[in-house]
Amino acid sequence: MTTLLINIKELLQVRDASISKVSGAEMAVLPTIKNAYLLLENDLISDFGTMDNLPEYKADKVIDAVGKIVLPSWCDSHTHIVYAGNREQEFVDRINGLSYEEIANRGGGILNSAKRLNESSEEEIYNQSKARLEEVMRLGTGAVEIKSGYGLTFEGELKMLRVIKQLANNYPITIKATFLGAHAFPLEYKENRKVYIDLLINEILPEIAKNKLADYIDAFCETGYFSVAETEQIMEAGKKYGLIPKIHVNQFNSIGGVQAGIKYNALSVDHLEVMRPEDIEALKNTDTMPVALPSCSYFLSIPYTPAREMIAAGLPLALATDFNPGSTPSGNMNFVVATACIKMKMTPEEAINAATINGAYAMGISNTHGSITKGKKANFIITKPIPSYYQLPYSFGSNLIDSVFIDGEIFI
Ligand code: NIG
Ligand code: FE
Repeated sequence: MTTLLINIKELLQVRDASISKVSGAEMAVLPTIKNAYLLLENDLISDFGTMDNLPEYKADKVIDAVGKIVLPSWCDSHTHIVYAGNREQEFVDRINGLSYEEIANRGGGILNSAKRLNESSEEEIYNQSKARLEEVMRLGTGAVEIKSGYGLTFEGELKMLRVIKQLANNYPITIKATFLGAHAFPLEYKENRKVYIDLLINEILPEIAKNKLADYIDAFCETGYFSVAETEQIMEAGKKYGLIPKIHVNQFNSIGGVQAGIKYNALSVDHLEVMRPEDIEALKNTDTMPVALPSCSYFLSIPYTPAREMIAAGLPLALATDFNPGSTPSGNMNFVVATACIKMKMTPEEAINAATINGAYAMGISNTHGSITKGKKANFIITKPIPSYYQLPYSFGSNLIDSVFIDGEIFI
């Protein structure tokens, strides 16, 4: 099956296969082709170029994209899409003056979601999660990472990871799974943290590895959650089973999580709202992708990741949603891109690079996703007719998506 898109106003993020991420000043460059064509063969991109050079193709299907912009699907490298229920009461409590930390200290927060998850059947969780997955696919996400971390029990964590696997089997979108048993200490282990860590390492991890339920391992390295030493212990254990670290660091405090991530060769370190100069310094010349989550900063009214300082230091940066019931009940990458421009002062080019090729890198899939490249997955967004790609962040809150292709087929 071949599909040919013609008269594309502008084809964005056209890259050579050798590019796996962009860093520093390169982030300001977004290679594009104006008045372009794009040819798909089954689920892959097979050719593209300017309309002037369009060869005589006999495509099975031709789509006229006049006035429309085509760009690679968003690569959302950090989500918690699988969860049960919601935390809208905590949202109202925060409006009325309680902080995220105060709510967590009262047994709310992550533990509240864990209670709901453990009370829900696997089928219920699957049905709630698939609705969220379909929503983000309609919003242009073509690859997504999903974490466990609302089980916090042997059965709950495995249940979450099985749901992630079921979603990956049933939907065309690429899904990577991350084990986040180290998300919070359940109340019964508060005074006996070692016992919980032993459960994660000696019981849950081997079962995950046996059933191949996760690609990555995560921990919430933060004051009141997992210390640097505990995080390192968990990364070390994950490594034995081939799980690569992707960790929550520097959300509220800078306690050395970035350095722990680098020490364990983390694929990404995520959040980074609170960055000391030494944290930025430590990331230089490493393979670890820093990931910013601006919707979380927006929703919790906490600082934004200092993108300008990080890019000026030559670092790459990826953008992701953090879709979860507590700190970011939104999986809209279009909003993330707009917020990165508006609040973090990233340029549209930088934000699009961060949400596509660098997001793909942060999921270990930049050889197949994140750019318009021959041989990569035919995963892309066709916009409505718009004057330029600046509209994507400029018209924040508007839905500018006409259609979404995943694996060479129209999803909407
Ligand atoms: O990435 N920071 C830790 N975990 C999530 C929030 C979890 C929750 O509040 O349910 C996050 O923001
Ligand atoms: Fe998160």
